[in-house]
Amino acid sequence: MSHAVSYSIRDKIGVISVDSPPVNALSQRVREGILDAVRKAQKDKSEAVVLCCKGRTFIAGADITEFGKPPLEPGLSEVLSAMENSSKPIIAAIHGAALGGGFEVALACHYRCAVAGARVGLPEVKLGLLPGAGGTQRVPRIAGIRAAFDMIVSGNPIAAAKARDMGLVNEIIDGDLVEGAISYARDLVDSGAPLKRIRDVNIDPATIEPGFFEQARKRVNARARGQIAQDRIVSCLEAAVNLPIDKGLKRERELFIELLTSPESAAMRHIFFAERQAAKIKGLPRETPVREINQAAIIGGGTMGGGIAMCFANAGIPVVLLEVNDEALDRGLKIIRKNYSITVKRGKLTEADVKKRMALITGATNYADIADADIVIEAVFENLDLKKEIFAKLDETCKAGAILATNTSYQDVDAIAAATARPEDVVGTHFFSPANVMKLLEVVRGAKTADDVLATVMLTGKRIGKVCALSGVCYGFIGNRMLTGYGREAQLLLLEGCTPQQVDSTLEKFGMAMGPVAMGDLAGLDVGYKARQSRKAEGDDPRPYAVSTRLVESGRFGQKTGAGYYRYDSETRARVSDPEVEVMIREEAEKFGIERREISEAEIIARCIYPLVNEGAKILEEGIAQRASDIDVVYVFGYAFPVAKGGPMFYADQVGLKSVYDKILEFRNRHGEQNWEPANLLKQLAENGGSFADLDQRPA
Ligand code: CAA
Repeated sequence: MSHAVSYSIRDKIGVISVDSPPVNALSQRVREGILDAVRKAQKDKSEAVVLCCKGRTFIAGADITEFGKPPLEPGLSEVLSAMENSSKPIIAAIHGAALGGGFEVALACHYRCAVAGARVGLPEVKLGLLPGAGGTQRVPRIAGIRAAFDMIVSGNPIAAAKARDMGLVNEIIDGDLVEGAISYARDLVDSGAPLKRIRDVNIDPATIEPGFFEQARKRVNARARGQIAQDRIVSCLEAAVNLPIDKGLKRERELFIELLTSPESAAMRHIFFAERQAAKIKGLPRETPVREINQAAIIGGGTMGGGIAMCFANAGIPVVLLEVNDEALDRGLKIIRKNYSITVKRGKLTEADVKKRMALITGATNYADIADADIVIEAVFENLDLKKEIFAKLDETCKAGAILATNTSYQDVDAIAAATARPEDVVGTHFFSPANVMKLLEVVRGAKTADDVLATVMLTGKRIGKVCALSGVCYGFIGNRMLTGYGREAQLLLLEGCTPQQVDSTLEKFGMAMGPVAMGDLAGLDVGYKARQSRKAEGDDPRPYAVSTRLVESGRFGQKTGAGYYRYDSETRARVSDPEVEVMIREEAEKFGIERREISEAEIIARCIYPLVNEGAKILEEGIAQRASDIDVVYVFGYAFPVAKGGPMFYADQVGLKSVYDKILEFRNRHGEQNWEPANLLKQLAENGGSFADLDQRPA
């Protein structure tokens, strides 16, 4: 038998134990081990069998690293059918998480028991897949179609108690799981409990409300952003109702294979591993010591500071919010309370939860009150002198070993560190707004930032629910630096012939959550206008901002004034095209002597996305980002780049770097090299048939 799985008999109960770190994924060795054990159990003296796992979790799913490689025997469906057809009851004993193929293993068992802290779920949709080993056929047979739809389309795991209420788990075990599961198995045998095979349950089609599947399909397609798995999940659930189980399983298999070989799933699997990879810092061993973080402090109780404080409180870490006076502090705390009350209204938190979290946030107006903090995050507005002043004060007040972080979108972290006598303790933490919602955290490594500071911040980021990516110091770091070209081209496209609607809808069809023009309206056109006024320089090209400037000067600041590039319905906030703006655009184009023309969707995409790729390549070349996949993580989690496209660098690899490079040369010839000078790295890779993925694989 494979070493990943052991089998023994205790008190006439067979115990199959999976031990395959880190997460007991269903690799070939695990599948083979379970199959051998089930076969053995059919012939021995055992009266029932418990399937349990060692380590931190039950089986967390298929082994994703095997996807895309030639299939290895035995397949999971062979293992599951041997389990379901076992002549003796098999009981799954779940701790940690039973996810994907792991939960499908549990569903092929005759009974499921779990510790209270366990979770079960079918997260395949997050990898652009559907549960391919019976999940879509078995869950609706116990929990009903509606619950199955919610569970499989969201991919979110469910806590053990709720799973028991839904019928997905039969018994919650207190105390030692394996002992409890063995005694539960004994009770089942002694009471002559039947072999419960979920496959024997039929769903009565009359219980499904008419039109349910059409509605479900419409709903998922409306927010698909290029993903196709949700639509195929609806087809599988339809099959669960309309077809006998074997035909339903066959249909599920066909659709699973379709998804497995789809570019969307390849992109999403790339992001799964990229996210985990991004948390690792090249050259820093796993065992790099970390500092203990038990108390945080935030300087500045504005939208950003308040949002960051919420992240710490949500993770159970006490946090002090420091403001300049009581009035500002009150305002900050009120905003936090209001944000929490919105979450309560949405049913995602209870009042009791909010009380607990608010109790972790204390206000202060005196630096002495943050002297004991293990990490201080400064989140005041973007003014370098002010930030330096604050860091000099922190240097005077904070205890030795405290991590001093600056939350900034573009300031020079090294200049801020130089305001202290301990630059090794200083690091950048670029949160995204709203900080309590957005997943990305860019961690900025200063020239002198100590390794243990970086390791601690990466770990703390994960603790407070963020996806971390490391950036070096440069203006705008990874994300905002790349964004410049994206915004510029969207504006130039307007002058050259597009309507705002055309640019936005094309990029939204590509999968962006919101097109760049509408995004300007949401952020407020006055913000960029003011920034441009304050740093106007000789030789600035006025064309990319011509329309925006005109809009602001005619009082159209975007959504907040009900009009910007679009007009906004005062109640629904729906955007409506405005012929007045189209006239303005035409006039501005004429002013610059730009001849307007028909522009294809393909050009809109290339003009907006390729600057991201080109700047991304420069960022890699300069060592600002560690890996191309880190850049993808930044874009997917910080800028709502479609996960089904895998981030700008993965997307460029899919298109082919030669073809991206050639297009950039074409744009350079047409629009000049100021904006379209190709990155050397891109040139090299394109000319040598390379890819960003190859580059990431090269040893450091
Ligand atoms: N296959 C291969 N490797 C996996 C894996 C999987 N299913 N799940 C996790 N890993 C690896 C991670 O890449 C990571 O490796 P490194 O340490 O080398 O980076 C390691 O296991 C630990 O993972 P996390 O850092 O994510 O650990 P965590 O404790 O934060 O979370 C977890 C644990 C909740 C199980 C999380 O890893 C997770 O959500 N895993 C994916 C679960 C999933 O999507 N399962 C469905 C797979 S598809 C499927 O099952 C199809 C089917 O129908 C047959």
